[in-house]
Amino acid sequence: MTETAVQTAERKLYIESYGCAMNFSDSEIIASIMGEHGFATTQDEFEADVIFLNTCAIRDNAEQRIRERLKHLRSNKKQNRDLIIGVLGCMAERLKDKLLEEEKLVDVVAGPDSYRELPKLVAEVDEGGRAINVLLSREETYGDLNPVRLNSNGVTAFISIMRGCDNMCSFCVVPFTRGRERSRDPESILREARELAAAGYKEITLLGQNVDSYLWFGGGPKKEFKNLTEEEKASSVDFADLLEMTALAVPELRIRYSTSHPRDITEKVVHTMAKYKNVCNYIHLPAQSGNSRVLEVMNRNYTREWYMDKVSMIRNILPDCGISCDIIAGFCTETEEEHKDTLSLMAWSRFDFSYMYKYSERPGTPAAKKLTDDVHEDVKGRRLQEIIALQNEVSKAKNQEYIGKVVEVLVEAESKRSTEEWMGRNDQNVVTVFPKEHYQKGDLVKVLVESASTTTLRGKAVV
Ligand code: SAH
Ligand code: SF4
Ligand code: F3S
Repeated sequence: MTETAVQTAERKLYIESYGCAMNFSDSEIIASIMGEHGFATTQDEFEADVIFLNTCAIRDNAEQRIRERLKHLRSNKKQNRDLIIGVLGCMAERLKDKLLEEEKLVDVVAGPDSYRELPKLVAEVDEGGRAINVLLSREETYGDLNPVRLNSNGVTAFISIMRGCDNMCSFCVVPFTRGRERSRDPESILREARELAAAGYKEITLLGQNVDSYLWFGGGPKKEFKNLTEEEKASSVDFADLLEMTALAVPELRIRYSTSHPRDITEKVVHTMAKYKNVCNYIHLPAQSGNSRVLEVMNRNYTREWYMDKVSMIRNILPDCGISCDIIAGFCTETEEEHKDTLSLMAWSRFDFSYMYKYSERPGTPAAKKLTDDVHEDVKGRRLQEIIALQNEVSKAKNQEYIGKVVEVLVEAESKRSTEEWMGRNDQNVVTVFPKEHYQKGDLVKVLVESASTTTLRGKAVV
């Protein structure tokens, strides 16, 4: 242990996470690093010596939320003058030292690849300074660390299998905030999966911005398979291999993963899902748009027809696979006809559910540099409403198809509405609620579905 550990013994850390699952997973790495330096995490922000906001920069409103939160933190600082406030994650990486200039109460700014430096940065603040590290790395995967599970239900957990993204979709800030793509050593992933199983967890989700391009060949920045040496090729592990290795290593766990990229998803992955019962039948396959010209301007590297082929491929191999989607409404230059193509793709694909957004221009991205954000705000809003209305209709109809069927549900937590009911998800990731009876958290329960809404199945346990 270092000097910092002695100085900081018994201090309390409060972490608040925003954005995607990768950020929530990073917060568990942050808790682990800080834990080794004498910081215990707390759920109570008012007893904290250090508050970290692990931020998201994906859309402007994500950043506005953080700005609002920082305003509120002024009163925490008034009550405790020694309180240290850190802004971490993607917004920190995007704004760098501008954040220190603009937000006077922020003491620490740290990007996604600099979390090992956090104890040192906090120590610099203890010495009276303000501290920043926003260096991105081509190698860092935090693969050797043991994440501290935060706000855990004790049943489901995330495992990061890669970091960064090399895709450069023109609307997206992630390549700038998380740097180059790199894959994590499969042995460390399996070790983490086994530890979670031993600790009583029942489900893991393997995480990456584009899991289909996972490739382990000994470490370091991403390379295409075709560019590997013969020796590297022979021992390389791709995503389908990793999924198989994980399914075999922890046969008692349910396995999910996210996110798939329509350009890169392979039959091999879907066949692996079909082969192992413990890999859940669910794929998150963001389309973003249903029009080939818009997809090209987005630099997504696939067409509408290519996307439809992938959906057909999945449905052929895994007929009962759940598929969800991300859609952006009103991207630069999108016409009314092109928007209608998105609606028709959604109607054809019949996604179980979708995450749907209005396009938000992000400074520094290829779209911000080369295109004009020319779809009027009102039009974006109306298109988004049409997209949401259609998805709700499809989700409700799809969920109603479960009525009278038995689904297998992993109990995650008490239902939000009633202390008498459990909430969990079926194989296809649809939220399912049923009376508790004698069942316990972590049980895999067969539930007969009796009714269904846009978001939820309801039923009762059957033996
Ligand atoms: N890696 C994933 C997505 C990560 S970001 C993928 O490739 O699909 C999550 C979602 O946010 C994206 O799928 C996209 O739908 C949305 N998104 C990203 N940038 C956006 C922007 N500038 N405006 C609106 N939505 C955006
Ligand atoms: Fe962003 Fe595209 Fe990478 Fe997804 S694949 S994180 S949308 S650049
Ligand atoms: Fe947001 Fe960063 Fe995730 S921008 S969506 S937290 S990768």
